[in-house]
Amino acid sequence: MTVRGAPLIGIVAAYGVALGAKEIMASKARCTPADINHICLGLQETRPTAVNLTWALERMKAVFNAHKEVPNIVDVLTNEAISIHVEDVENNRMLSLYGAELIDDGDTILTHCNAGALATGGYGTALGVIRAAHESGKKIRVIATETRPYMQGARLTVWELIQEGIDVELIPDNHVGFISSNKGFSKVIVGADRVALNGDTANKIGTYMIALCAHKHQIPLYVAAPVSTFDRYIKNGAYIPIEERDGREVKYLHGKLLTVRDVKACYYSFDVTPARYITHFITEKGVIERPFKKYIKMLFS
Ligand code: MRU
Repeated sequence: MTVRGAPLIGIVAAYGVALGAKEIMASKARCTPADINHICLGLQETRPTAVNLTWALERMKAVFNAHKEVPNIVDVLTNEAISIHVEDVENNRMLSLYGAELIDDGDTILTHCNAGALATGGYGTALGVIRAAHESGKKIRVIATETRPYMQGARLTVWELIQEGIDVELIPDNHVGFISSNKGFSKVIVGADRVALNGDTANKIGTYMIALCAHKHQIPLYVAAPVSTFDRYIKNGAYIPIEERDGREVKYLHGKLLTVRDVKACYYSFDVTPARYITHFITEKGVIERPFKKYIKMLFS
């Protein structure tokens, strides 16, 4: 969690493969497929939900296998990691332009967790759409949830939006129901960690709760995510692995005990929002409308 956010997890893992290969070449002047598989296995086990991690590792493995005999294999792997990084920023800027067209002047947008420059190679996904709408001159307000227990909204999203001079208000996660019932926001934009072929979407825990409120109060919910976050191998959300983290991250905040020391504590890091609660997906290939099954499949062709 020094770096986090699905696209950035993938980018850093790609650099990790290059670094691992560099260390192996320095120690034994030859890097084998088994070495690369070992490096990738270690990186794969870090964060189970964000599919960008698997996507990046598979891409790095393919490049290694295609060039494994060349003497400058470390440079080849490093250049591929840099390409993954650069492409991510380009994709975020492209999807943000498509997404900004869904934003109206005067909109109040709720966002959850941090899906910004600090979660990607740069510019951001959900926050990229907000940035692009702001840059296009649209007058918008943002409501950011604090996103307990790791506080990505309070610590990262608020900081990014203030840097951009975008009007932002912070709320506790449990305020979404009340504020949506009073139409306190007109749109929801979130990122994603894994999108299944039918559109079921995993994102930061709490997103499903927000989606239920938005659905109840007819507020559109958009998921902004690059194609690297769509999983072509799983048909629905039931197959998405959900990361479970240490309950101490709930009981303590910045080292301060918030409760009774020995109480049991549960901490799921992500949840799955069924496709029926999602209005559109925003990708670098355009806005995806229903039927999601048909158009998500086309992303891979
Ligand atoms: O646990 P995190 O901070 O890695 O969770 C991040 C999220 O859920 C983001 O919304 C998602 O990865 C998209 S980031 C562009």
